[in-house]
Amino acid sequence: MTSDDATRDDAAPDTTPGDDAPGEDKAGRSDGLASRRAALDLVSAALDHRGGLDEAMTRAPFAELELRDRALARMLAMTLLRRLGGVDKLLQPRLRTPPPAPVMMLLRLGMAQALYMDTPAFAAVDTVVRLAQAEEATRPFKGLINAVLRGVLRDGPVADDPEALAPGWIFARWRAAYGAEAALAMAAAIALEPATDVTPRDPADAQGLAAELEADVLPGGSLRVRRKGDVAEWPGFFEGRWWVQDAAAAIPARLLNVGPGQTALDLCAAPGGKALQLAATGARVTALDRSPARLRLLSQTLERTGLSAEVVASQAERWSDARVFDAVLLDAPCSATGTFRRHPDVLWGTKPGDIAKLAGVQARLLDAAAARVAPGGRLVYCVCSLEPEEGEGQAEGFGLRHPEFRLEPIAPGEGGAPAASVDANGRLRVLPHHLEGGLDGFFAARWVRAG
Ligand SMILES: C[S@@+](CC[C@H](N)C(=O)[O-])C[C@H]1O[C@@H](n2cnc3c(N)ncnc32)[C@H](O)[C@@H]1O
Repeated sequence: MTSDDATRDDAAPDTTPGDDAPGEDKAGRSDGLASRRAALDLVSAALDHRGGLDEAMTRAPFAELELRDRALARMLAMTLLRRLGGVDKLLQPRLRTPPPAPVMMLLRLGMAQALYMDTPAFAAVDTVVRLAQAEEATRPFKGLINAVLRGVLRDGPVADDPEALAPGWIFARWRAAYGAEAALAMAAAIALEPATDVTPRDPADAQGLAAELEADVLPGGSLRVRRKGDVAEWPGFFEGRWWVQDAAAAIPARLLNVGPGQTALDLCAAPGGKALQLAATGARVTALDRSPARLRLLSQTLERTGLSAEVVASQAERWSDARVFDAVLLDAPCSATGTFRRHPDVLWGTKPGDIAKLAGVQARLLDAAAARVAPGGRLVYCVCSLEPEEGEGQAEGFGLRHPEFRLEPIAPGEGGAPAASVDANGRLRVLPHHLEGGLDGFFAARWVRAG
């Protein structure tokens, strides 16, 4: 392995300060190396498998950092994940052979800091060289790291290439499913940090809340908040006047059109945004999920908002309750590739085999959901995935297996659905560029059971 102007340890000047042990100085100021190490651990875990990032946040080194260092580690990890594909594309021509994984991670971090964060170039290089010096496995490569990063910085900024921002296999799928133009627009959104959307508990409160929160009211009634920072400090949080929910995620529950006196079952309910929407209509809601830990989050938000629902911990397929419901929502577990704006790790942790496995789970859950729909009742299936096997493929399979259900087309604009998001069959296929400022990718279809 080599760079264009260096090999291993024998090139550019060593920027390593005398003492490599990271920690705090006498005034207790952190040198930031611990945060950077934790950020690298988060990104490695995110690349390893689906959910790896969330798991890594619950353990050392991240979980042992002080709060302010955690915020820095998280920000570094998210910036790197948003830029990973582009960073790798820039690094590739400077490395004749791939370096060991820990060296590659240091190079990536240095690039992300120098190019996409406010870190001065010399500090970005200095910190990663110090990290390299501190570990036996990476120490021999600090010259290479130094030289490669200095080379990149010397060559100056480069224009973003949206295609490079997504893993190649994901971009190829998006291009095959939605065309090259849409795939490029979707990939461009990976680099952008999204605004926070919230759902008002009472739709009549939307305008008032918008003024207090500095937000715009979106079609459908979600609010797009221009504030940043801790949502718990925003007006109306403690009074339970709203909850955080992406504008696209808020569409499917509206498509059920439930109201006071009706019964509604949310079969994969936690952490609860859609169950809260159903409860806010006055419907009698049963919120079921197999995860007690996630259901605790739902219970907390029910308490904060003063809404009520019956909360059930069970697997949907095994729930030993004979009731049927006027309306059933299945927001199935999925690859979640549509949530990449908030969770860029989903693009890197998901592997091609995951999608087929998840599609099998979704088909089983759809059959379980069908059994819960009363005659004449409605079923909405949705996933926050951009992969057709988890969306259109499921809807088609369900239609063949369940002739007792009739697809009820969704109208453009219904529930806030952007007109571009409704396909020729009346199914919802939201792509992240369908609304200015972006929204999550989603699929939804609605059926009515024969009376
Ligand atoms: C996409 S999330 C649901 C998000 C939720 N509807 C919301 O709006 O906040 C999928 C949920 O399905 C749950 N789940 C996965 N398999 C399940 C099963 N077999 N039965 C019930 N819940 C399941 C997971 O625990 C997870 O909370």
